[in-house]
Amino acid sequence: MNITKRKTIIAGNWKMNFVDSLKFFEGLSGITIAEGAEVVICAPHTFLNYIGADALKYGVAASVGAQDVSAFGSGAYTGEVSGEMLKHAGASYCIVGHSERRQYHGETNELVAEKALRCHENGLIPIVCVGESLEQREQGKTFTLISKQVSAILNALTEEQLNKTVFAYEPIWAIGTGKTATAEQAEEVCGAIRNRIAKKYNEEKAETISILYGGSMNDKNAVELLSRPDIDGGLIGGASLDPIKFAAINKAVETAGANV
Ligand code: PGA
Repeated sequence: MNITKRKTIIAGNWKMNFVDSLKFFEGLSGITIAEGAEVVICAPHTFLNYIGADALKYGVAASVGAQDVSAFGSGAYTGEVSGEMLKHAGASYCIVGHSERRQYHGETNELVAEKALRCHENGLIPIVCVGESLEQREQGKTFTLISKQVSAILNALTEEQLNKTVFAYEPIWAIGTGKTATAEQAEEVCGAIRNRIAKKYNEEKAETISILYGGSMNDKNAVELLSRPDIDGGLIGGASLDPIKFAAINKAVETAGANV
């Protein structure tokens, strides 16, 4: 990470887990948040309305994020939740294109780009997830695939929208498996994402965009991952459900900052 050039983001992804948010934020009270870093909690839609207030009760400065948004603006789309609604419920971030959405809901690169646009139209910062499966990695397709996933977003967004976009490299084989990418592997792909941005714009622009790593990041491996220059934070699933582990990952930002 490079805290002087871009924001470090530690984002928890609670997925479809029921978390007692008051207890969670009580456990996080007194948490160390490094200067220039931001904590985001991406919670299920029904939690968005109140978790910001719950965090404040315990003095935790956490931004609120959603985990998905409808590709449609409004109207007869039963069961969908629009960007406008997420914003109204207190969200300022929204994950789009998580591999679990791509895998279980057939989300394509084009759909993910639409969702990123809906975020921008409603003042939400999209956290765009990209990543390869184990099979794709073993077949040597990682970089082509990531480039395609990132290109779909770059082609859809204006430069101004890109400025307010976060990417997350999440190798599918590392998600929820306890098998983390090595810091070298994670850095290599985060660097490739930055290069793809530089190719479309320039290096200065690419240097300003935050790129996170996600996939079994935890209190044990966070310092090593965050010490890499191109890894600007984490998108954390399992370890974000435990306030002690999540606080330790936030603490790791300071240690890693000193290492860079
Ligand atoms: P994990 O999930 O930390 O449990 O691997 C990460 C994610 O899916 O965002």
